[in-house]
Amino acid sequence: AVDISKLRAASGLITIDPGYKNTGSTKSGITFLDGEKGILRYRGYSIEDLAEKSSFLEVAYLLIYGDLPKQSELNKFQNDIKMHTLVHEDIKRILEGFPSNAHPMGVLSSLVCSLTAFYPESLDPNRSSEAVYLSIIRIMAKVPTMAAWAHKNELGHPVNYPSNNLDYCANFIKMMFAVPAEPFEVDPVIVDALDKLLILHADHEQNCSTSAVRLVGSSQASLYASISAGINALWGPLHGGANQAVIEMLENIKKDGGDIPKYIAKAKDKDDPFRLMGFGHRVYKNFDPRARIIKKAADQVLGKLGIVDPVLDIAKKLEEIALEDEYFVQRKLYPNVDFYSGIIYRAMGIPTEMFTVMFALGRLPGWIAQWKEMRESNEPIGRPRQVYTGPNARNYAELTDR
Ligand code: ACO
Repeated sequence: AVDISKLRAASGLITIDPGYKNTGSTKSGITFLDGEKGILRYRGYSIEDLAEKSSFLEVAYLLIYGDLPKQSELNKFQNDIKMHTLVHEDIKRILEGFPSNAHPMGVLSSLVCSLTAFYPESLDPNRSSEAVYLSIIRIMAKVPTMAAWAHKNELGHPVNYPSNNLDYCANFIKMMFAVPAEPFEVDPVIVDALDKLLILHADHEQNCSTSAVRLVGSSQASLYASISAGINALWGPLHGGANQAVIEMLENIKKDGGDIPKYIAKAKDKDDPFRLMGFGHRVYKNFDPRARIIKKAADQVLGKLGIVDPVLDIAKKLEEIALEDEYFVQRKLYPNVDFYSGIIYRAMGIPTEMFTVMFALGRLPGWIAQWKEMRESNEPIGRPRQVYTGPNARNYAELTDR
């Protein structure tokens, strides 16, 4: 680990780098990303291998603890999570206080932050590693329950309690979709697709939400408070909120009679704030490797479920046209992870406003791993500088003289 305490703040010189486009905030051993070559690896393993061969909880373990788990380690991790999927009944009362039209991301971030009240020992920055382990298990276990409950609250339906006989993803799907007094069979095609999507979203180095988690955590705020901040950062349409915005855009194109060139022209028009949602990335200046995998998965999942979605055809056509357009070519704008993920979520029956919550479910282990790494390397509190551009010293004017 880097001995950050030895790095002293330089006085006098301040670099301005809006959006931190070229500023590294940390050293990290978790995720490797080469934006020029389109490479993404978690702890050295390629995203392609992990998406094909691993389960989401194996990947979560890998991200958080650094190595792929042995069978016994995986069994323990999975069982510990299963033992904590229930959420305190008073958290359900907090949920019930939200209006049914509350966006589920706001509900989720509030419920996650409320864990600080139910487990106040998590506020102690000097907790033992066993206590930190328990916080990690709790948040991994409870976020799917709270996410599914946020959806049920929107519908005004009773919530489903977790089933310990089901695996992580199957349990989530059941909590999302089962209705009282109706038998519910979890479709393995949907579970496999969800597992893959969560793996693809599990970490992405120092993106906006992860940086938010690390920054909040750097003040020694609890894991729950830090991850709640990450959920809020993810919500915006330029970050995780893009998956919702993509489907809305594709739907609008469909309603517009499939007039793709009109939307391409709008995206290129500098006087129009419209952007092609799901296109472009701060780091990938070549194809986003996750988008490749998701595009293929979208075809497979829709095929297996027997769903024909005209929006998938619009997405493919849009990609084809954009990738041949000088504007997108010059700026190296390719489809990102969010371009096709919404189409799969839709085929799974997940409503549009839950898409970003799905992203949060996937990103959770990445946030945890990054928070843990930051705390274990004793990083100093994050506190960027500025160049002041306001007025010089002014004489105070009394209220009557203004
Ligand atoms: N549509 C049209 N033009 C675009 C797009 C787009 N989607 N993305 C970037 N551009 C243009 C910009 O207008 C700019 O053009 P200019 O050089 O003529 O001024 C140029 O490409 C560079 O764009 P920046 O905004 O400077 O790139 P930045 O790295 O700051 O932004 C971002 C990256 C936010 C992802 C951007 O590409 C975007 O807004 N994409 C759409 C939203 C989206 O899909 N977000 C999800 C990102 S992935 C994730 O968070 C999981």
